[in-house]
Amino acid sequence: MGLTDTVTLHNGVQMPQFGLGVWQVDDGDEVIHSVKWALEAGYRMVDTAAAYGNEKGVGQAIKESGVSRDDIFVTTKVANSNQGYEETLAAFEDSIKKLGLETLDLYLIHWPVAESFVDTWKAMEKLYKDGRIRAIGVCNFHQHHFEKLMETAEIKPMVNQIELHPYLNQEPLRQFCKEQDIVVEAYSPLGSGNLLQNEDLKAIGEKYGKSPAQVMLRWDIQHGIVTIPKSVHKERIQENADIFDFELSQEDMDEIDRLNQDHRFGWNPERFDK
Ligand SMILES: NC(=O)c1ccc[n+]([C@@H]2O[C@H](COP(=O)([O-])OP(=O)(O)OC[C@H]3O[C@@H](n4cnc5c(N)ncnc54)[C@H](OP(=O)(O)O)[C@@H]3O)[C@@H](O)[C@H]2O)c1
Repeated sequence: MGLTDTVTLHNGVQMPQFGLGVWQVDDGDEVIHSVKWALEAGYRMVDTAAAYGNEKGVGQAIKESGVSRDDIFVTTKVANSNQGYEETLAAFEDSIKKLGLETLDLYLIHWPVAESFVDTWKAMEKLYKDGRIRAIGVCNFHQHHFEKLMETAEIKPMVNQIELHPYLNQEPLRQFCKEQDIVVEAYSPLGSGNLLQNEDLKAIGEKYGKSPAQVMLRWDIQHGIVTIPKSVHKERIQENADIFDFELSQEDMDEIDRLNQDHRFGWNPERFDK
């Protein structure tokens, strides 16, 4: 097992199980360094979004990294303000231009904006059928959002990217996605940094000589969840990837599962601020 391990999406596309998140990373030097350090450390996936304002730097880093474009899985997302059919088609062109790519690996609906996500999805389906994107998916979707989408959708989303960490393990939604053959991708896998001082995770990590961050990321991997930790520090980017030389025991996996409090550090998809 390692950084190049993949999961298979329901259309057969292989998606790396581990990648770098770049929310709240400045465009320019900060994001360029972060992405280059990650690629040097062996990461092969980057998760950005139009709303993060750093697609240009992500694209520049990929180009300058020396790693073949075909070996890197690039995700971006349509912003809430650009949802709707025509708006999404235009937003895609803008994103791909900024990224400097011809084809995108994964395009996601960033949040389920109630009045427009069905039309947004129609545009994503068109882009997919036209061969512009290798896979399409959503973020922050609950079961009822999928049910509404599937009333009119021709293609089922391949990925659902959701807040997921030991305080919000999303067990019921993960079960639904599994039944639907939709891959679950964990965002804020370290609780946006809020779980790094957790005493239970520290104690588990000490048994393996690993940090709480490494324990949380390893827990994702062993659950089959795709994970995208963010850091702008070279040593942390390397540390987060150094999780393939140990295995959490079933007992420790269960203990981490029991830390769940259904606690969100981010917005609730039922009540988000557009
Ligand atoms: N679809 C969505 O709606 C959505 C929402 C939120 C996030 N996301 C995606 O998920 C990615 C990850 O989530 P996130 O950015 O919320 O947070 P996260 O990855 O859970 O945590 C990042 C925080 O932890 C710190 N950190 C990372 N590794 C560390 C380590 N080894 N030791 C100590 N501190 C460490 C980082 O600080 P430094 O950077 O200073 O190292 C940062 O403050 C985002 O970047 C984004 O790509 C998607």
